[in-house]
Amino acid sequence: MLNDIQETLYDAEQIQQKVRELAENISRDFEGRNPLVICVLKGAFIFMADLVKNVSIPLEIDFMAVSSYGQSTKSSGVVKIIKDLDVSVEGRDVLIVEDIIDSGLTLSYLIDVLERRNAKSVTVVTLFDKPARRTVELDADYTGFTLPDEFVVGYGLDYAEKYRNLPYIGILKPEVYTKS
Ligand code: XMP
Ligand code: MG
Repeated sequence: MLNDIQETLYDAEQIQQKVRELAENISRDFEGRNPLVICVLKGAFIFMADLVKNVSIPLEIDFMAVSSYGQSTKSSGVVKIIKDLDVSVEGRDVLIVEDIIDSGLTLSYLIDVLERRNAKSVTVVTLFDKPARRTVELDADYTGFTLPDEFVVGYGLDYAEKYRNLPYIGILKPEVYTKS
């Protein structure tokens, strides 16, 4: 598996350092608010776990799984909820935890859903951002690393469901995409 990685962009220590930084900022900004922290599955599961371990204020967590339709062909912004939240967001300060923002379609849909369900506030933290690929105007409130326009894997992110367990983030060798 390690042989499939062409280049490490950020190693485990760099990621942990950044996650601690984000958690400190969130702890400070959400002081006294008991946010509902929403993990967007599957990609954000490792980031979510590392992040909340470093947040020093009371919070609750829930999970949501979504999938985008025809990302490469049409940018309709239609996103399907595969697994919905267990709890109501009404009147809650919500913090969405995303792995990566690409076109921005998934996130803009999610924000819209949570606002229509009357969340008190919707804030977004993403570990990675690829601003070059944005099709909707949208930025996270907290961003870990800004990435070049390359497909990355590791630290929760997959290619064909593999590589999520890598503790670092890297770029795959091109031949990995071409062989089945
Ligand atoms: P949009 O385009 O809606 O998509 O912002 C966000 C989702 O697309 C996936 N994505 C990636 N997954 N490596 C991955 O493993 C990448 O480089 C990458 N870029 C986008 C991811 O599921 C994310 O939530
Ligand atoms: Mg995702």
